[in-house]
Parts: sequence; C-alpha cells; structure tokens
Amino acid sequence: MKLLTIIGARPQFIKAAAVSRKLRTQNEEIIVHTGQHYDDNMSKVFFDELEIPMPDYNLNVGSGSHGTMTGNMMIKIEEVMLKEKPDCVIVYGDTNSTLAGGVCASKLLIPLAHIEAGLRSFNKKMPEEQNRILTDHVSSFLFTPTETAVENLKNEGIINNVYNVGDVMYDACLHYLKIAEKRSTILEKLNLNKGEYILGTVHRAENTNDPLRLKNIVRALNESGAKIVLPLHPRTKKYLKQYNLSFSDNIKIIDAVGYHDTLVLEKNCRKIVTDSGGIQKEAYFMKKPCITLRDESEWVETIKSGWNILAGADYEKITNAIQNFEKNGEQINYYGNGKASEGICNILKENL
Ligand code: UD1
Ligand code: UDP
Repeated sequence: MKLLTIIGARPQFIKAAAVSRKLRTQNEEIIVHTGQHYDDNMSKVFFDELEIPMPDYNLNVGSGSHGTMTGNMMIKIEEVMLKEKPDCVIVYGDTNSTLAGGVCASKLLIPLAHIEAGLRSFNKKMPEEQNRILTDHVSSFLFTPTETAVENLKNEGIINNVYNVGDVMYDACLHYLKIAEKRSTILEKLNLNKGEYILGTVHRAENTNDPLRLKNIVRALNESGAKIVLPLHPRTKKYLKQYNLSFSDNIKIIDAVGYHDTLVLEKNCRKIVTDSGGIQKEAYFMKKPCITLRDESEWVETIKSGWNILAGADYEKITNAIQNFEKNGEQINYYGNGKASEGICNILKENL
C-alpha cells in the first residue's frame, strides 16, 4: 500500500512519528511537510529526535493568513497527489495543513484517513474547530482518540468508518519518554529540581492575538509568585513584543524546546499551565494537575476527572489555580492502551 502522510506543525510531527514507525514496516509511506512550521526548534528537532524519515517533499509554505497558507498548501499538495497517486492520504489533528491535505484528497477522490477525528470545542471562532469539522466531513476513515469524539461525530451524522483506536499521542508519550529520560539534559541546563517548578506554555491564537487576554495571562503568571518555566512558541514571542509585555523574575523564559526536553519537563514539574491541546493530555498521562488557559477544552475527560481545570485568561482563576489546584490518585484510562498506531495500520490494511 502506498500512503501519503501530510504534516506541517509541531504536534503533527509527534503524532506521525508514532504512526509512521508502524506504517513503514508493511507499507510505502511518502511524507509531505507543508512547511507550516519551519524554525529548527519547531520542525527539524522533531525529525531528528523522533527519527522521522526526512520528508519526501517540503512545500515550504511558511507563515501567512489562513487563506494564503491553506491555498498555497493546496496548490502544491494537489501536484504531489497527482504525481504519487497514493492509495490513501493521512492527515492529523486540526491545523491548516490538515485542512489543505483533507480537501485535496477529497477532491481527487483519494481515500482520506483523519487521525484525531471527532474532537470538538464547540467554539467555531477557533481556526482549529473549523479545520477539524471540515476535515471530518470529507474523511473516509475517522480514527478517534476517545469515546467522546465518537459521540461528537454521531451528533453530526457521521457513524460509518469511525474507529475508536485510542490516542496516538499516548503511544508517542509511552515510547519516547524512556528515551527522553536518558537523553535530555534540560533539568541540569536550567538548574531545576524535581517538583519545584511549574511548566507553562501559551501559543493559541485566541490568547496571543488578543492583547487583553495575553496581558491577563502574563500578569497572572508574574504575580502568582510561582517558579514557572515557559518555553515560548515564536507566535507568542512576537505578540509579547508587539504588546510590550514582559515577565518578572519568577518566570524562566526559554525558546520552544524539542519533544524529549518537553517530556522531561512535564514529568518532573509540580503542575502545568497551558493552552496546548497536546500538553493537557500529556499532563494527564504524567499525572500532573493541569490549569488550562482556555474557556473550553476538547479533552473533556481530563476536566471531568478533576485533573484539569479551565481558567481561561482570567487573572483570579489563574492565580488561584496556580496556588491551590491540586490532584492526585488513580486515573481512568480514557486514551487507549498505547497501541492506537497499530490499530490504525491494521484497519487501513483490512479496508484499502
Ligand atoms: C498552529 C495551529 C494550531 C496548533 C499549533 C501547534 C493552525 C491554524 N494552527 O498554530 O492549531 O496548536 O500550530 O504549535 O494551523 N512561526 C515562526 N516559526 C515557525 C512557525 C511559526 O516564527 O516555525 C510564527 C510566525 O510568526 C507565524 C506564527 O508563528 O505567523 C503562527 O504560526 P502558524 O503556523 O500560523 O500557527 P500556530 O500558532 O503555530
Ligand atoms: N511541545 C514541544 N516543545 C514545546 C512545546 C510543546 O515539543 O516547546 C510538544 C508537546 O509535548 C506536545 C505538542 O508539542 O506533544 C503540543 O503541541 P502544541 O502545544 O504546539 O499544539 P497543540 O497540541 O495545542 O495543537
């Protein structure tokens, strides 16, 4: 079988790393990197650390408005699809690269597999929500990470070809954490002790592109008094400068780091403050209380179970949660058995 994988953004490299390792044992895989993320610490580091084969095509699309990025990706992806004639196209998650790949496959009548299908925030203002709804509705195989995602699809009338295989990010986390713990030196580099710091990330457009929200978040982190390690996404760096916002001494700012360092920072922190989808789940996998800087979450199980709390961009809620939100004890396993990638490969093999 010839599979064409389309990836372009940081979390997609991580998800594809888990699936590609399995896919490649029995199939031919062509990797297309749209170029949505291009800085070394947003792209190359993941290919190196996770041993993802170099992309067969790099479309070098880069940053831009939604229309520019998605349109430019589609022009180039269509050319690749016409040339390669794959048996199936694989897309991940909810970025502009997902949508561009999904629409091209659908128009060319190539079977489309959407990995991480069915997630919903029910906030249509988010570009991610638009991307995932549109992609789900043109997909031939919908691989969901949770039962909630299956229900969401059912509510939109999608019941066929939905496979609840579990979360490929759980596969990735289980596989790479062991390697990360051997290889990462981030704790020594930053002079951090286990359990003494909070790990933070902020990058979602709804926070960075709204000066009021970003200002509230920065003020809350500054005034929480907690020691916070904050690897910064380039988008956030840009807007902090634009809005003239700065951090106080309790915040340790670093550039965005690779997956190994992130896993080790997550494993050894006290709690996590984030607006990332992936990191909310990794917090759950690592049994760390998570404070989510959003008004809703697609990962509702983490909230229902009490391990994750929504604080939005609300100063009071964020500072209060940083000081007081705790959780420990047993967890329910909502995200599969760490073999989602294997399940996906088997289902594609049986059905294509
Ligand atoms: C994208 C996804 C988001 C996902 C995130 C993962 C969309 C609409 N959003 O958001 O769902 O959570 O990836 O990290 O697809 N930039 C650089 N260097 C890079 C990449 C980006 O400087 O290598 C800067 C540019 O100024 C760019 C901005 O970051 O304009 C935003 O990048 P973009 O890819 O549009 O969105 P993300 O915020 O990364
Ligand atoms: N991540 C990383 N380095 C960082 C921040 C995040 O490797 O500096 C990883 C993180 O462990 C998770 C994924 O990137 O697996 C999440 O990506 P991101 O937060 O950019 O996007 P989202 O999941 O919100 O779409």
